[in-house]
Amino acid sequence: MMPPESWIGFFEWCEATYLGTLVRDSVWLFPIIEAAHLVALCVLGGAILVVDLRLLGLGLTGQRLSDLARHVRPWLLGGVAVMLSTGVLLFLSEAIKCFYNTSFWVKMMTLPAAIAFTFAVKNRSLDGLETSARSRVLGAVSIALWFTVAAAGRWIGYS
Ligand code: HEM
Repeated sequence: MMPPESWIGFFEWCEATYLGTLVRDSVWLFPIIEAAHLVALCVLGGAILVVDLRLLGLGLTGQRLSDLARHVRPWLLGGVAVMLSTGVLLFLSEAIKCFYNTSFWVKMMTLPAAIAFTFAVKNRSLDGLETSARSRVLGAVSIALWFTVAAAGRWIGYS
């Protein structure tokens, strides 16, 4: 799953940007930004799991699915926004490492699918939806997609 070598120029440009250099040359910026990436992951993970567990017939079963999704939506949007912005800063600081990192490409392939599934499929299916085989499939697919993104993200640092 490696990209064409011809893309390396773009990644070298990313790593040489002012922001990439600033984060890379600072002792504190990378760990602080990665900590923010992790805290936002907790917020995003919580907003996703509250609805997905309910879809599986678990968790807050006394609440209607559409109500739950409406309540967590600001946290979901905030979590995604902070993940994307802190992620781009982490990426710029080590773009060439990411270019040769399979976990990074697994994450970049899965992330758009997870975001599209959440906003274009799952959240649009919740009105009037009760626990059923259909709701369980929606919940299971969502958890599988976001778990893959998070696990691949974690593995970037190990590989
Ligand atoms: C909502 C989406 C995202 C999720 C759930 C996610 C998840 C994660 C996780 C769990 C880690 C490991 C943090 C740690 O344990 O220290 C991580 C690290 C990282 N993520 Fe993300 N991430 C997301 C978006 C992004 C984006 C959009 C990019 C880049 C364009 C990105 C680039 C990185 C990089 C470069 C690392 C650091 C790897 C290292 O330790 O060297 N992430 N991400």
